[in-house]
Amino acid sequence: MSTLEIEKLRIVYGKYVAVDGLDLTIPHGQLVSLLGPSGSGKTSVLRAIGGYLPPTSGTIKVNGRDITRDPPQVRDMGMVFQNFLLFPHMSVLDNVEFGLRMRQVSRAERRRRAMETLDMVRMSAFAARLPFQLSGGQQQRVALARALVIRPAILLMDEPMGALDAKLRAEAQEEIRAVQKEVGVTAILVTHDQQEAMAMSDRIVVMRDGAILEEGEPGRLYREPRTAFTAEFLGTTTLLPVEVLGGEGGRCRVRHSTSKHEFLATGDLRAGEAASVSLRPEEILCSHEATADSIAGRVTKRMFYGVNTFLRVETSEAGSLLALEAPGAVMGEGTGVHVSWRSEGARVLPRDPS
Ligand SMILES: Nc1ncnc2c1ncn2[C@@H]1O[C@H](COP(=O)(O)OP(=O)(O)O)[C@@H](O)[C@H]1O
Ligand SMILES: [Mg+2]
Repeated sequence: MSTLEIEKLRIVYGKYVAVDGLDLTIPHGQLVSLLGPSGSGKTSVLRAIGGYLPPTSGTIKVNGRDITRDPPQVRDMGMVFQNFLLFPHMSVLDNVEFGLRMRQVSRAERRRRAMETLDMVRMSAFAARLPFQLSGGQQQRVALARALVIRPAILLMDEPMGALDAKLRAEAQEEIRAVQKEVGVTAILVTHDQQEAMAMSDRIVVMRDGAILEEGEPGRLYREPRTAFTAEFLGTTTLLPVEVLGGEGGRCRVRHSTSKHEFLATGDLRAGEAASVSLRPEEILCSHEATADSIAGRVTKRMFYGVNTFLRVETSEAGSLLALEAPGAVMGEGTGVHVSWRSEGARVLPRDPS
């Protein structure tokens, strides 16, 4: 059982504050993603947990024990990095055995545990190969085996799929998640890829400017973001600038900033506040018929993505919107449409100052 607790973690490079008072607890066996744009401090947090970067202040505890100043080799952490960093001159087996050799495990036991771990990632048939004789996806699995062979308390992964193409990436995501669950290891995944975070995590921590902006279970964060930044970073959305006219009981009446169009949205904000309404593509209904609440628009782009087709709809009342085409209802470019949405599908959020 391994619970990780981070309290008031602060990391300063020279004068630059990269991580600013971060608090985070990860319960045993969970996979938590640190999700944020480049430069938001994700790697710095991970390096501090691994012991490769002494934090300026704050504490890191595993199962209640303070490890903040322990050197990396006594921390019981497995690491997987973006560029795998397998030792190029060592066989797959030797690569996986490496961590055990460092821990003075006997030769027979090393071999047994390395093969067992390679089995787990379906790579035991490749034990004698050198890294350059493997595909990117296979190298990535070996890197995972190498991290797990020491049976770490915590598995740390920094953009582990970064070097893989889209298809391999999706496979690797599924595979890593399955192995992590099977082993039952507490894990942290650093990624800037929202889809990856949503597909793999028990919980997502959204980071911006060295701090946690918000966190939650993926579905909750997607459906009920508390910030415009998260709404936009997680999935696809249109943010409409609005003014709040009034509201109560979790509903607000809002008006689009550049038109007179008023509508109801979900959320608690005060009258007079500058806000944004987040409209997910799947919440926008495009119809040939006008209704009492609909606004007129025109399809200017139709984008086919296989499973889904997206429509770019230009309206004079609400600007440019991104909608999902309803199944079976083809709406070609140039089609005049009437756009509407339910108040439950429109989330009113504080306007992001940046
Ligand atoms: N060794 C360093 N010296 C100075 N600044 C650094 C160093 N490492 C990272 N930074 C800065 O700290 C910020 C956070 O970096 P990092 O933790 O790598 O973010 P992320 O992994 O989210 O991209 C960035 O602005 C980066 O330029
Ligand atoms: Mg990084």
